[in-house]
Amino acid sequence: MKTLTVLGIETSCDETATSIIRVDDEKQTFDILGNTVHSQIDIHASYGGVFPILAKREHQINIIPVLIQTLSQAGMYKTATSEQDEQKIPAESAEIDEILSKEPELLPFFKKFIQTTKKPDIDYISITVGPGLEPALWVGINFARALACAWNVPLVPCNHMEGHILTALIQKNKARAEATESSYKLLTKEVTYPALSLLISGGHTQIVLIKSLGSYNIIGDTRDDAIGECFDKVARTLGLAYPGGPKISKLAAEARATDITSPEPLPRPMIETDDLDFSFSGLKTAVLYLVKRLQKSQSNGLSEQEIKGISREVEDAVTEIITAKIRKAIEIYAIESIIVGGGVIANTNIRTHLEKLAEECSIKLLLPQFDHATDNGLMIALAGYVNRDKAVDFKTLQKAVGTLPLGPRI
Ligand code: KG4
Ligand code: ZN
Repeated sequence: MKTLTVLGIETSCDETATSIIRVDDEKQTFDILGNTVHSQIDIHASYGGVFPILAKREHQINIIPVLIQTLSQAGMYKTATSEQDEQKIPAESAEIDEILSKEPELLPFFKKFIQTTKKPDIDYISITVGPGLEPALWVGINFARALACAWNVPLVPCNHMEGHILTALIQKNKARAEATESSYKLLTKEVTYPALSLLISGGHTQIVLIKSLGSYNIIGDTRDDAIGECFDKVARTLGLAYPGGPKISKLAAEARATDITSPEPLPRPMIETDDLDFSFSGLKTAVLYLVKRLQKSQSNGLSEQEIKGISREVEDAVTEIITAKIRKAIEIYAIESIIVGGGVIANTNIRTHLEKLAEECSIKLLLPQFDHATDNGLMIALAGYVNRDKAVDFKTLQKAVGTLPLGPRI
């Protein structure tokens, strides 16, 4: 049995995350040996969004504890007890100093960690190089480079959005009869093509045509705000804390259960255009004007009822737009499978409507588990495994690319 162990590191936004997977290369099955996500949400909440410089600082402080937790879960955290165990990297390593010269807060933690920790049995380290916030991306990249240098392990540069696609392509092995069997299966060979991927997150709203895994063409994109950004901005207008998506989703469900509707209907921008593009800023602005009008006409601000009703209407509008565009894409490209990724697919209403659409069109729909929808290290460990033939050494790793595309726009 040929197994490969991959450590994935993700720091593109406000989650510091690592994961270790062990893949049975022949069977295409794998185990998640460790998976840790440290969210910075509380720190950014007061800014109403992610503050890049603060994110960079937090990643520097948290990345070592996050890695130690993941290594411990995997049973791979072993402190060096004898001289023999100690790392070859001396306390004064010019190479490590150079790699982490822009991460001054991480450097002392890193040196202590590397000198007191035994090298784990890892074949590859995979790291998000984009898209994302560049100051945040750099922390993960330089951390991964420093680890690769100290442990002499190849590095796999990964696209964050491909990671989101891959989290939908795994299936829990429910009938795991023996302890020796892996608990997940990689479905990369089961997908029928042409497939499309809907990527909906805080920074992206894209429809991607996939002719085969790794060959991506963007066929639809947002012209302004991303869908998650729309949820977050609308939430802010309604007085709800960042990140707004989960809160809007919860209030919308309550509104549906109790039959509360919005004081006014909201627009569905670009729902009927012939292309596969999106626009959400008009929806966000319509909410802003509606809230201003309501606030002007009543002295106590918005009622709970109004906030719930507007949340429901916003969620309905977004769901209808997405469903209409995916339906169009299925027809135009004779799509056989739909793969959905990104934090917004944690939204139950959107999931349910996509499930109905897939059933109606007899198309395979692949969704990530709820807890794998938002950013995590597992998605990057999977991307590292899939792209291991593109591994490089720490000296040649490409730089952070905030706007890294998944493929060309066609
Ligand atoms: O993929 P992700 O974790 O980070 C980015 O790469 O952007 O996505 C985060 C986004 C946020 O905008 C958040 O509000 C949204 O996903 N989100 C949701 C839900 N859970 C997270 N949006 C709608 N409904 C949800 N349940
Ligand atoms: Zn993401």
